[in-house]
Amino acid sequence: MRSHYCGDIRSSDVGEEVEIYGWVHRRRDHGGVIFLDVRDRTGILQVVFDPDTQESFAAADSVRNEFVLKAKGRVRPRPEGTVNADMPTGEIEVLGLELTVLNAAKTPPFQLDEHSEAGEDVRLRYRYLDLRRPEMQQRMQTRAKITSQVRSFLEEQGFWDIETPTLSRATPEGARDYLVPSRTHPGEFFALPQSPQVYKQLLMMSGMDKYYQIARCYRDEDLRADRQPEFTQIDIEASFTNQDQIMTMTEGMLKQVFTNVLGVELGEFPVLSWAEAMRDFGNDRPDLRNPMRLVDIADLMSGVEFKVFQGPANDPNGRVVALRAPGGATLSRKLIDQYTAFVGRYGAKGLAYVKVNDLSAGADGLQSPILKFMPAEVIQSVLERVGAQTGDLVFFGADQAKVVNDAMGALRNELGADLELLEGKFKPCWVVDWPMFAEGRDGTFSAEHHPFTRPTCSPQELLDNPAAAQAAAYDVVLNGYELGGGSLRIHDQNMQKAVFDVLKMDEAGQEKFGFLLEALQYGCPPHGGIALGLDRLVMLMTDSQSIREVIAFPKTQTASCAMMDAPGGVEEQQLRDLHIRLRTPAAANTESQ
Ligand code: AMO
Ligand code: AMP
Repeated sequence: MRSHYCGDIRSSDVGEEVEIYGWVHRRRDHGGVIFLDVRDRTGILQVVFDPDTQESFAAADSVRNEFVLKAKGRVRPRPEGTVNADMPTGEIEVLGLELTVLNAAKTPPFQLDEHSEAGEDVRLRYRYLDLRRPEMQQRMQTRAKITSQVRSFLEEQGFWDIETPTLSRATPEGARDYLVPSRTHPGEFFALPQSPQVYKQLLMMSGMDKYYQIARCYRDEDLRADRQPEFTQIDIEASFTNQDQIMTMTEGMLKQVFTNVLGVELGEFPVLSWAEAMRDFGNDRPDLRNPMRLVDIADLMSGVEFKVFQGPANDPNGRVVALRAPGGATLSRKLIDQYTAFVGRYGAKGLAYVKVNDLSAGADGLQSPILKFMPAEVIQSVLERVGAQTGDLVFFGADQAKVVNDAMGALRNELGADLELLEGKFKPCWVVDWPMFAEGRDGTFSAEHHPFTRPTCSPQELLDNPAAAQAAAYDVVLNGYELGGGSLRIHDQNMQKAVFDVLKMDEAGQEKFGFLLEALQYGCPPHGGIALGLDRLVMLMTDSQSIREVIAFPKTQTASCAMMDAPGGVEEQQLRDLHIRLRTPAAANTESQ
């Protein structure tokens, strides 16, 4: 029977006989003595075999990386000069007395140590090996600790864990649905839930009062580092509550998770309005570690000759901003060209700048392609407003407000990282006072959060002026990532209908939610909630580059599973059972055979 895990043995165990199980991490042959680094999920232990124990020495000689072993031996201090301070077990080693090979292993397709430079495609193809790496095991352990803390916090607060179906109908979170064909209802499909939104609201109508679920969600959307087609939410809903209570509870939960998992105290979460976030950062999920701010200068530019600035400065939908890059005067022409190309991806037509080589020298101390288009005093006012210092560079963006926000907001993030300006490790905040709808170019409206979010106005005011409507919605943001979003919900049928009307949801669309409109008439309590992206939380807490690093079996960038080769084709008979005929050319071939 296992007496110890490999990573748990310490100096205090010296003299003890131990029995350990694990994988060969590394095997070294040092002139007649064989060193095996044996690894299990707790860490790595050095086991030494010398020729005195003939049988086990021969066995040790035969093993290779990733063989599975059982070993017995005696713990002893490492000889002087061979202590490894970088390893928790680095003061001791085990003198191997017995060795049993439980299983052999082929040579792995990549090295399983932290220096592994294997590409992600190979890692995902052999994910079960990739997950053996200590780094990946730690991430999985941290994830488990986080969910455990979340559960204990919420249960302490009286929330019940209730499961909701994954064979469901379309849910309105704005992405494409994953569909599942029904065999028993020819031509009809289930949709996998994009979130448990409607179910959790129905649970409030059922009097469950406080619900939570660590829920799997499915969205068929373009993938990025922080998006997977299948991901997990910490989903929460409560009745007879208000925005403050939900925000305080969420903040309390995140603080407990950070304290108990990382030993990090998060402190108070600043609260920004959506309008302030857009004004200062150009986006609704600001990274507050970055000290840079967008500064409006339209008032200074309304009279200048330079049309590029003057136009947007006088356009109600335009915006002109300056962005001070501390220490940016050292940026080369080539780098500035690269940033110009970068903002171009967001629709910006250029990227004017002023280098402040010497603030005290007036115009002579400045270097810029736009000085000639602008009175010196305007430039001086801009420099004063942004607080420019010698050695800084000030960038400018002028265009439609959306273009300026997208381009300059992204540039702010880029520069913050490139100029190493980020301060502090974790900077959360709330973004509140959201608009209810986003207005498209064609004048149509879409819900900024989802159609069940409660507007702060009356149904009539909403119908009269949807563009001005605000929502009782709140997002929690961490280090520039949208960690979670929530809102108070509509509990009044007339308001729900008004929202559907603004969204121009036709009768068929509204019929889909007929059950909800009906349920609202049977005594629906006021309620609200929030959902946090668990994968994003774990990614940020483990300092990982993408959520794929914190999901045991993630999908690739093209939404497939490289290991199981999913999605995959199915037998013709299965298709027949499901009443499906494929339209792809490959399928047509199969059918004609
Ligand atoms: P929302 O759509 O904002 O709200 O989702 C909540 C949180 O889930 C995470 N998230 C994702 N994580 C990984 N991959 C994805 N594709 C993905 N999409 C979303 C984000 C996001 O903040 N029902 C509402 C919540 C509510 O109103 O209570 C909802 O789903 O971290
Ligand atoms: P131009 O006169 O077009 O050569 O532009 C002069 C400077 O203004 C260049 O540095 C351009 O990159 C910059 N510029 C052009 N359009 C914009 C814009 N919409 N916003 C900010 N800078 C711009």
